Amino acid sequence: MSSKAASPADFPDSPAARAFRQPLMLGVFLNLQDIQRSRLPSSNTWTFDYNALVVQRAESLGFELAFSRTQWLPKGGYDGDASLDAFVALGAMAAITRTILLISTIHVLYGPMHPLHLAKYGATLDHISKGRWGINVVTGHRAVEHEMFGWERIEHDRRYELAGELLEVVQRLWTDTENFSFEGASPWKVKNGYITPKPLYGRPVLVNATGSDAGIRFAARYSDIVFITSPGGAHIDSALETLPPHVARIREAAGEAGRSVKTVINPIIVSRDTPQEAQEYADAIVAGALGRAGFNGYDSDAHAWRGRKDARHKQGRNLGGNIEIVGSPEQVVEQLLALKGAGIDGVQLGFFDFTADLEHFGRRILPLMKDAGLRV
Ligand SMILES: Cc1cc2nc3c(=O)[nH]c(=O)nc-3n(C[C@H](O)[C@H](O)[C@H](O)COP(=O)(O)O)c2cc1C
Repeated sequence: MSSKAASPADFPDSPAARAFRQPLMLGVFLNLQDIQRSRLPSSNTWTFDYNALVVQRAESLGFELAFSRTQWLPKGGYDGDASLDAFVALGAMAAITRTILLISTIHVLYGPMHPLHLAKYGATLDHISKGRWGINVVTGHRAVEHEMFGWERIEHDRRYELAGELLEVVQRLWTDTENFSFEGASPWKVKNGYITPKPLYGRPVLVNATGSDAGIRFAARYSDIVFITSPGGAHIDSALETLPPHVARIREAAGEAGRSVKTVINPIIVSRDTPQEAQEYADAIVAGALGRAGFNGYDSDAHAWRGRKDARHKQGRNLGGNIEIVGSPEQVVEQLLALKGAGIDGVQLGFFDFTADLEHFGRRILPLMKDAGLRV
């Protein structure tokens, strides 16, 4: 079975197509989890109200994308206790925003999730958001999460096969004009399945985050955007060295599948008006570091982060973020230009203090990005 659902980016007036026309897409990596890296004071909280303010401010600055993590961790898994679900929270943001794309992270295998649920919920959010909602397809890399749902972790590549089967069926439900039935390798079945209304632009935006061969094959086939990780780790120099062949590999895989995908990466921006002030800000974050192992070091079989601690790479300072961008506004724009040069289509930004740092970004960095041709 192979569904041929058009990408929303193929519709020139879709929110996805508008976003994809930016030289460097801007996203905000919302934090719906209680994460505390440092004793240095920050306004960040996991609450819906705080994140709603952040997403609305990002939208008013012209950002195209918002997304957030979802993890299913046992007691003690987060720094604090709280963590909102990104499917529900980003979905709810559809009603309080107008232009920004909202990408909900969903573990599509847990439960198992039935394709009718995903297709119906997705079509509903597509209509509420007018084509601005999408899914970050996550299959679960931690054993402890699968166990929480009552089974052993499914083997790495098998997870992508099962997610592919699910998406084939969900895409058919989003596009087929007749009932249809399906039975495959997944634990669920469909008999005379049908959903209406159909999504406004073929289907919602599809995204996945990966670095593995199986995950890249999956992205080439289904995703509009791939969240990539720097193979060289968080230090900007090593990231810039290792990203070009990595991005080329992803583009080639998409090309072989007759498609194209956008690559997005999630840096943290630590900036102040001068280089020295920016370094002092970074130093203060590091000086207050709480030294946690990162979600308690639960066993993960993810490929994307392998090799990041390789001694040949310059190491980051553990500021958070897949890449660390530290500097004055001019230095930040230089690094963003270099990422664009390395083949990156968008950045999904995190900040140590979202509200204050987003204001600095809008006031001091964004105008320079426009001057540099990174934004239109
Ligand atoms: C930016 C980014 C965000 C991610 N968010 C989540 C998440 O919210 N929940 C989750 O379980 N995994 C998340 N992951 C992990 C991916 O879903 C995936 O398991 C990981 O990238 C490894 O994939 P691979 O083994 O195909 O390389 C994220 C990965 C990246 C790079």
